[in-house]
Amino acid sequence: MLIKHLSLANFRNYKTAEVAFQPGVNLLVGPNGQGKTNLVEAVRFLSTLSSHRVAGYQPLIKQNEDSALIRALASFDDREMLIELELNRESQNKARVNKSPSQKVRDILGYINSVTFAPEDLDIIKRDPSNRRAFIDELVVQVWPRFAGVYSDYERVLKQRNTLLKTARQTGAKGSALSTLDAWDESLINFGAEIVAARVDVIERLRPHLFAAYQKIAIANNEPKIIVKSSLLGAAIVSDDEDGAPLDAIETKDKLQIAELFKLKLEFVRSKELERGISLVGPHRDDLVLMLGELPAKGYASHGESWSYALALRLASIELLKAETRSGDPILILDDVFAELDAGRRSRLAELIANNEQVLITAAVGEDVPQELSAVIFEVRAGEISDGENNA
Ligand SMILES: Nc1ncnc2c1ncn2[C@@H]1O[C@H](COP(=O)(O)OP(=O)(O)OP(=O)(O)O)[C@@H](O)[C@H]1O
Ligand SMILES: [Mg+2]
Repeated sequence: MLIKHLSLANFRNYKTAEVAFQPGVNLLVGPNGQGKTNLVEAVRFLSTLSSHRVAGYQPLIKQNEDSALIRALASFDDREMLIELELNRESQNKARVNKSPSQKVRDILGYINSVTFAPEDLDIIKRDPSNRRAFIDELVVQVWPRFAGVYSDYERVLKQRNTLLKTARQTGAKGSALSTLDAWDESLINFGAEIVAARVDVIERLRPHLFAAYQKIAIANNEPKIIVKSSLLGAAIVSDDEDGAPLDAIETKDKLQIAELFKLKLEFVRSKELERGISLVGPHRDDLVLMLGELPAKGYASHGESWSYALALRLASIELLKAETRSGDPILILDDVFAELDAGRRSRLAELIANNEQVLITAAVGEDVPQELSAVIFEVRAGEISDGENNA
């Protein structure tokens, strides 16, 4: 799929912007701080309702403005879709698909698929579990958009359950509080088991693509493998700093079986949860272990290997989305990645993405982007974008 036209209003440092993206590679160049990342961030946000730079959406609205607008004319197979998103500082955000208002903003998920490569991807390999959960959950939602609803239901239940646990801790757990807790447990287990099953399922589908992608980008025969580790298994309880607890690997994607494990584990940790006033187990405490050969990449892989792994995760995501969705090639966004890569990885990456239907690349220095990515070039200066110039 591709985006034919992008319009912005009061988005980040843009008062307004009109960009006619072309099929193939679109290169956004300009000095630091001019708005290159902001532009691709808008595309990514429309596609995933998340940014690779910031949590939440308030920073996306131009300073001193009350609302921002992102509008994209997307096309797939000669079908055109107009996707619009209005971000409001004070009131609810709104979305429209082909001019008709969506009931929920998350209803626009699934229309525009994208895969973003960015220096922040190294965090998936090197940093805490929340980065890995974000990676896998974004993929789950792109493959099965209805999961956006499941995640938001899970989060809502989790929040309410935590409030209840906190109150119970302060007032001492009494009969009525405990029976309310039982009711919340049921919803937590329901939504949580769906999430765990979907993660295991997506990782399984990703596996062959990841293996192939790693060999292509790293030219090494180290085998990358992802293990889903779950707080639902065994006796371990993840500590609050979210690190170091040795969780067990979960392999089943059978929802009923997962629900059963969840139920047992909740019984097991009930007294601890009441003592601590917080939900201690569930997908919000799970993690992925990214193995490279016999060792986990985190804490063991070299910087170069970590980069290869991060790139392989994204390359594999592209193949997964091509295979599992009906919208063809996802839009590829490469935000400032070439500057970070050595010559070998640069040209291998270029080769692997060059034929994608549409690619959006940002670079402060045009020369960092390999020649073989012949491109339409847009100059970005202080929130203004030039007309695309063909450099092919
Ligand atoms: N909400 C906002 N309102 C106004 N300006 C903003 C807002 N958010 C970010 N900016 C401005 O946008 C600019 C950053 O733009 P962006 O991150 O797109 O730069 P860039 O061209 O990608 O630069 P680099 O090459 O360094 O990555 C900064 O000057 C920042 O102050
Ligand atoms: Mg940038």
